[in-house]
Amino acid sequence: MTREIGARFGGHFFLYRLPALHTYNRPATVAEMDMEQAARKQQAAQAALEFIKPGMTLGVGTGSTVNYFIDELIRYRDDLTAIVASSRATEARLRARGLTVSELEDVGDPDLYVDGADEANKHFHLIKGGGGALTREKILAAASRKFVCIIDQSKWVATLGQFPLPVEVIPMARSYVARQFLKVRGQPVWREGVVTDNGNHILDVRNLQISNPVEFESRFNQVAGIVTVGLFANRPADVILLADDSGVKRMDRR
Ligand code: 5RP
Repeated sequence: MTREIGARFGGHFFLYRLPALHTYNRPATVAEMDMEQAARKQQAAQAALEFIKPGMTLGVGTGSTVNYFIDELIRYRDDLTAIVASSRATEARLRARGLTVSELEDVGDPDLYVDGADEANKHFHLIKGGGGALTREKILAAASRKFVCIIDQSKWVATLGQFPLPVEVIPMARSYVARQFLKVRGQPVWREGVVTDNGNHILDVRNLQISNPVEFESRFNQVAGIVTVGLFANRPADVILLADDSGVKRMDRR
């Protein structure tokens, strides 16, 4: 697999093909993942189970942290009115565990949405989309009455942007969109080979220090060809469950 990286020389913009860089890719299996980090992800996921109440419609996010949550959900099958998935991968995992998955269009707004994040700050702003599901995740977060974000301490940051910002783009606009990020000194890298559940491409934008996430999200979401940026600032999390050495800390947004 190769990646394209954008650069500007002599007033022209080029997308170069580079060998795949895996430095920020999340490990695929627990064996690859640091065991302590895996345990913290599991703790955060288990803490989120307490938010499930009888009769709820539940939205389920995507990623290795949420996978621990999914693995426990069978116990709540008879309590839940409906479950909506944020990705095909999550849908498949839910079904494989005997749970029925509904479409958002058929069941209406979820009472609760549980999802992980790639980065989170004290304002409950998030970077998401490391798993490529950012657009559907953002739809579920927006539609849901309560958004509980489950993270381990490695995701907690002062300023968002160390994790490359995922951006879902319409394929024909990939280079145009990449040039818009160069203007703010971002380094867009095409996640080559990845096609989202919506048939689009992902750019991962490195080298950003996002000091005003609300403004940044609003600005770039208006760029033609961008489906959405992986910033969850205009609709932040309501609750963060952060697992660290001392257990799971619950933080509620005021
Ligand atoms: C997927 C996401 C995930 O929530 C995010 O990448 C965190 O993943 P993990 O729980 O595997 O660390 O946004 O699109």
